[in-house]
Amino acid sequence: MPEPLFLRACRGAAVERTPVWIMRQAGRYLPEYRALREQHDFLTSCRTPELACEITLQPVRRLGVDAAILFSDILVPLPGMGVDVTFSPGPQLSRTVRSAGDVAALRIPDAEESTPYVLEAIRLLRAELDPAVPLIGFAGAPFTMATYLVEGGGSKSFAAVKQLLFAAPETAHALLATCAETVGRLLAAEVRAGAQAAMLFDTWAGLLGPDDYRAFALPYVARAFRAVAEAAATLEVDVPRIYYAGGAWGWLEECGGTGATVVGLDWRSSLATARARLPGLALQGNLDPAVLLGPPALIRERAARVLEDAGPRGHVFNLGHGILPMTPPDHARVLVDVVHERSARRIA
Ligand code: CP3
Repeated sequence: MPEPLFLRACRGAAVERTPVWIMRQAGRYLPEYRALREQHDFLTSCRTPELACEITLQPVRRLGVDAAILFSDILVPLPGMGVDVTFSPGPQLSRTVRSAGDVAALRIPDAEESTPYVLEAIRLLRAELDPAVPLIGFAGAPFTMATYLVEGGGSKSFAAVKQLLFAAPETAHALLATCAETVGRLLAAEVRAGAQAAMLFDTWAGLLGPDDYRAFALPYVARAFRAVAEAAATLEVDVPRIYYAGGAWGWLEECGGTGATVVGLDWRSSLATARARLPGLALQGNLDPAVLLGPPALIRERAARVLEDAGPRGHVFNLGHGILPMTPPDHARVLVDVVHERSARRIA
C-alpha cells in the first residue's frame, strides 16, 4: 500500500491531491454525535474506549476526510495531575493552580496509569480504521494547559495566568515544566499505542507577545515534542509533529523552533505568507471556520483560495480553528469534496 496521503503531505512529499481533515471534526454539529451524547456524558464518552472509537469514526464515515483525530480532550490528563474537571459544556476545574505550593502539589502522571482509556481507544482505532486514513493523537500544549490550570476554566481576560507570568515567573516556569513533562509523556505513550501523528493544540498561545512566547511557550513545546521524537525513533517510525498555535502570526518563525514538522495556523493571514516565513515545514489550515456557515458556492471559492495560497506540496487542508457547532454537516462535506476535486494533480 502506498504511504497515506496525509503522512506524505506532512513530510512535504508530492501528493496527487491535498489531504483534508477538520479540527473538532467529531462533535456537536454532527447529529450522530448528539445522539450518542444523549446516552452518555462527555467525559464518559472520552473515558470509554468503544465510545471514543465510535465517535472518532463518525466524521471519517460521513465526510471522507484523510485523517482521523482521536476523540478526547486536552484536559483529560488533569485528574492524573491532581485536579478534577467537569464539562458543562465549558470546562470547570476543581481548583486553581496559582502559588508555588499549588504547583508543587501537582503530580506528573504516568499516561498508562492515569489515562489508559486514551491508549486503549488508539489501539481499537488502529484495528478499525482504513489504513489509508492515519490516526492523529494529540494533547494540549504546555502554555494552553497552564492557562486552564491557573484560570480554573475558560476565561475572557486571562488576567490570572498573565499575572502569574509577570508577578511570579519562577512559579510559572515550574508549572509549565510540569505541563510539558505531562503532555510529552502522554504524546509519547499515544505514539507507542499506535498514533501516527502527534499534535499539540496551543489555542491560547496568541495571548503572548514575541518575547513572552519565546520565554514561556516555545521551550516547553520543544520539550514535549522531544519526547515524541524519542518515542518515534525507538519505534523506528516517522511520526509528524503538528503544532497548532492560535494567533501565531506575530512570532511565526519561532513556531519553526519548536521541533514541529507541521505548523497549523488560523485564518488571520495567508498561507502564502507562512510559506515564506517557515521554509522546509509543512503547513496545516487555514480556512475561517465561519466560512462553512455561508453557501456552498462561497465555501468552494474560499477553499480554492486557500489551496492556491498554500501551493501543491507540504499542505494539509484544515480550518483555522475548530468547526463551529452550528455548522450544517452537508457544508463540511462540500468542503472535503471541493478540496479533493480542486487539488487533484498529476505527480511523477
Ligand atoms: O478534533 C476532534 O474532533 C477531537 C476532539 C477534541 C475535543 N476537544 C472534543 C471536545 C479536541 C482535539 C479537543 C481539543 C480542545 N479541548 C482544545 C484545543 C482546540 C481548540 O478548539 O482550541 C481546547 C481549548 C479544549 C478545551 C475544551 N473542551 C473546551 C473549551 C470545551 C468546551 C467548549 C466547547 O467547544 O464545547 C471542551 C469540550 C469538548 N471537547 C467538546 C468536544 C466535542 C464538547 C463537549 C460536548 O458538549 O459534547
